[in-house]
This record gives sequence, C-alpha cells and structure tokens, in this order.
Amino acid sequence: SNPQMGSEHHPILRAADCRAKGGAPGFKVAILGAAGGIGQPLSMLMKMNPLVSVLHLYDVVNAPGVTADVSHMDTGAVVRGFLGQPQLESALTGMDLVIIPAGVPRKPGMTRDDLFNINAGIVRTLCEGIAKSCPNAIVNLISNPVNSTVPIAAEVFKKAGTYDPKKLLGVTMLDVVRANTFVAEVLGLDPREVSVPVVGGHAGVTILPLLSQVKPPCSFTPEETEYLTKRIQDGGTEVVQAKAGAGSATLSMAYAAVKFADLCLRGLKGDAGIVECAFVASQVTDLPFFATKVRLGRGGAEEVFQLGPLNEYERVGLEKAKKELAVSIQKGVSFIKK
Ligand code: NAI
Repeated sequence: SNPQMGSEHHPILRAADCRAKGGAPGFKVAILGAAGGIGQPLSMLMKMNPLVSVLHLYDVVNAPGVTADVSHMDTGAVVRGFLGQPQLESALTGMDLVIIPAGVPRKPGMTRDDLFNINAGIVRTLCEGIAKSCPNAIVNLISNPVNSTVPIAAEVFKKAGTYDPKKLLGVTMLDVVRANTFVAEVLGLDPREVSVPVVGGHAGVTILPLLSQVKPPCSFTPEETEYLTKRIQDGGTEVVQAKAGAGSATLSMAYAAVKFADLCLRGLKGDAGIVECAFVASQVTDLPFFATKVRLGRGGAEEVFQLGPLNEYERVGLEKAKKELAVSIQKGVSFIKK
C-alpha cells in the first residue's frame, strides 16, 4: 500500500508536491471515514471548496479508490489517501480541520444509542490520533451517537493534555438543515430564506427546534408546532426507514457537513459574524455539553450563545431534552474514565 496515495506523487510530474508545499492559500482538511456513505460525497464536496488546499482522505477500507476518483476533479485542493491505522498519523499531521464521519450507521428499529458499542471505540482511536498528530486542529464530529461521542472525544483529549473545548464541535447542522427545509415547506417560503435554531443534542427528543425564534419572524399554530417539532426530531429515522436497511442519511448529511465545515474554515480565516448551531462544551445549561448557536472564529467556537427566550412548549421540551442528554453525556464520559 502506497503511504501517500494521490495524484501529485507520480515521478513525471514537474510540480510534484510543490502546489501543496508552496503554501498555496487555503486550509488542510482530513476526512476520517472518507470511503463511507457520508464520507464519499463529503470528500467530493470538500474537494470543491476553494478554502481547502490539501485534502486527506482516511479510511480502513477503499481509501485508495475514493482518493483516485476525487483527485481527478479539476479543483484546487491536492488530494491524498491513507489506508488503515498505520497511516492515521500521516493522514493527520499538519491538519487544520478534521471531519469524522467514521462508524456504523443505524438500521430500521435502531436508536443512535444502539451504535454506541461500536462507534465509541472508533472515535476513541481516531481522537487519540488527533491528540498525537494535530492537537490544534478543529474537530467536526459526525459519528453517532453525537451526544456521547463528543464527551468521549473530550475525555480522550483531556487524558492526552490537548483538550481545547472551543475546538471540539459535534455536528448538528443536519438538524438545522432539516428544520429550515420543513419550516419553509409549512410557510411556503424558499428554504434558503429560513433560519431555525436547533438546540440541545442530536438524537430524538434531545433535538429541540426553537420555532419561536425562526427567522424571518413568523408564528405557528399548536398543530404546526407539534408537526414540525416531531418531523425535525424524527428526520433521521424517516431516512433510515425509507432506506430500509441500507443505512441512514448520507447525501443530506454530506451537504450539511460541508456547509458546517465551510463555516469553520471561514472562521479560521478570520471572517466576522460566523454563527451556527453545534454541540459543544457549554455553560448555557447545567449540562457540560449542549448544542446552541456558537460564533466560529480563529480559535473555533469562540463564543457560545445563550438560548434566548423560550415559549412554554419549548421549556417543556428543554426539560425532556436535558434529562436524556445527561444520561448520554455520562455514558460517553464513563466509557473513557472506567
Ligand atoms: P458507513 O458505514 O457508510 O461509513 C462509515 C465509514 O467509516 C466506512 O467507510 C468505514 O470503513 C469507516 N470506518 C469504520 N471504522 C473506522 C475507523 N476505525 N477509522 C476510520 N474509518 C472507519 O456509514 P455512514 O452512513 O457514512 O455514517 C457514518 C456515521 O455518521 C454513523 O455513525 C452515522 O450514525 C453518523 N451520522 C451522523 C449524522 C449527524 O447528523 N451527526 C447524520 C447521519 C449519520
């Protein structure tokens, strides 16, 4: 296996490596789990992002194929592939942003928590690699159950002495993307004009859309509120059932992941006013982690915003969300501490 799969390594190429080494403007991004259902379209879309100068694609299977394929796209980023644990360190060295969609997805009848036993170990291994090879990188964690894998990652980084809470972000962007879409459908608007804050966590009742804070300002009947809240909370399950055993959301997730990664890169670049929801270390509630709007900057999630005014329906939802979240967070923490 070639330790540096990618199109710039053929000996005939005059510019071999110089595009990447010559300080081409842009960021270095690694995708861990790049050959998966999310990983493949995510790799393609990140190769199209003009802020990316180097794209490292890592997986335990099929990384060479995905790398060869994506590397033929005539966009700026230099693409390199890395296969299997022995190449994890080279995949991660020098990275500014690491996106993690590695792990098994749900099948019909499964909750995200049912994935814990397999994905917890995968996330631990990958985060140990990050602590060792790119401790300053921003981490976008997609692997489920996000409510537990983010606490796992935090504990791994604490153990390694590299933990920066601002740089560890659980990706809840798909909940926001779904909420924007479903709310726009109800209101008869273009989803691009709609912005719905979704707070709490990323599983069932922990997903709490704040419909009272939708932009543009609007109001919903109790029936609409109930329909929208349920549909947003069960959006993932809707896809799992429709795919009938073939996995969970991959295309909309890849879209959401690049939307979020692009915001992180714009923050790293120093753009002002970059605000989006993410599951982060937080003092907004009495829980150690919580998803709210955060401001993304050079240091990651530089500011964590308060919840803002909630209506009665949302206050009830918040209590339910917190109860389940507390258990999932504790489960993640004890996985490393035990
Ligand atoms: P998939 O099974 O199609 O792909 C997962 C990939 O991870 C595979 O290519 C596999 O080889 C790779 N992988 C397994 N162990 C690995 C390791 N130790 N190191 C590196 N790569 C490894 O699954 P899919 O559909 O891409 O989903 C991936 C994860 O994303 C699942 O945990 C799923 O639940 C989660 N997800 C999260 C969402 C969110 O909103 N945060 C939404 C949808 C899915």
